[in-house]
Amino acid sequence: MVRLALIGCGAIGSTIASMVEDMPEIESIYLYDRSKRMEKGLARSLKKGRILEDIVEIIERSDLVIEAASQEAAKKYAPVALEKGKSVLILSVGALVDRPFRERIEEIARRRHRKIYLASGAIAGIDGVCAAATAKIEEVMLNTIKPPEAFRQSSYVLDHKINLNAIVKPTVLFEGSAAEAVTHFPQNINVAAALSLAGIGFERTRVRIIADPNTNRNIHKLLVKGDFGVLEIEVRNVPSPKNPKTSYLAALSAVSAIRKIAGNVWVGV
Ligand SMILES: NC(=O)c1ccc[n+]([C@@H]2O[C@H](COP(=O)([O-])OP(=O)(O)OC[C@H]3O[C@@H](n4cnc5c(N)ncnc54)[C@H](O)[C@@H]3O)[C@@H](O)[C@H]2O)c1
Repeated sequence: MVRLALIGCGAIGSTIASMVEDMPEIESIYLYDRSKRMEKGLARSLKKGRILEDIVEIIERSDLVIEAASQEAAKKYAPVALEKGKSVLILSVGALVDRPFRERIEEIARRRHRKIYLASGAIAGIDGVCAAATAKIEEVMLNTIKPPEAFRQSSYVLDHKINLNAIVKPTVLFEGSAAEAVTHFPQNINVAAALSLAGIGFERTRVRIIADPNTNRNIHKLLVKGDFGVLEIEVRNVPSPKNPKTSYLAALSAVSAIRKIAGNVWVGV
């Protein structure tokens, strides 16, 4: 039986909890959110939800710690969980752009013989990119296409005084490395980070960001070329019903990860 600690009771966290609690392998789900309203609201809707005040006690009582909150939460709680001998599933994969943080949690996981699971999130094909990366990869290109409105808060759009209201056809806003993209477009950081970590790193992974007034989906088109051949993937993501900035597939990727971790058969390893 597996006891889960769920940090973050928002769009992703609540989907995870409601979808995994019927699994016979799941004994209980300890909930934690800095918003007590979110925490209690989710607990009320669950049969296996548990609330404890102290996050350290929550971590100690669990077998697997799931971060579905923020990069800040990933940086704060993943090292604590690993030090306490718990494996962690991280949704805010963008936190791993920070190399010292990445190296720190990798070192703790090695020393404590625990696992760090990084969700594939809103992109598909990460399994294929991981496999391809064991041989030579020549090129990784990610095209991210979203409605112009999705870029309203990005520093790049503000700094370059891009008038999103004037965009009437698909328009390339940015092209560069994943390393550059994650600083300019933090809302795309998770997909670019997962892809970079799976493949050829942040410097060599190329990212193109396109604003398309004709779409209401978050679209990711992936092109990878290497010794294995060519991989092309296109995901047209439906936004999460609870948070339009989050693609529904991101929450589903965590549900699928928990099924693999808690179950006995791992399809697509
Ligand atoms: N891997 C992917 O493809 C992918 C896709 C979408 C979102 N995400 C990431 O997943 C995370 C959650 O996304 P969401 O859509 O559920 O967000 P959300 O805003 O709907 O919910 C996040 C919840 O976490 C809580 N929270 C935030 N920081 C916290 C902290 N330090 N301690 C305790 N609670 C904290 C908030 O109060 C909120 O209730 C975000 O970091 C987001 O960037 C990843």
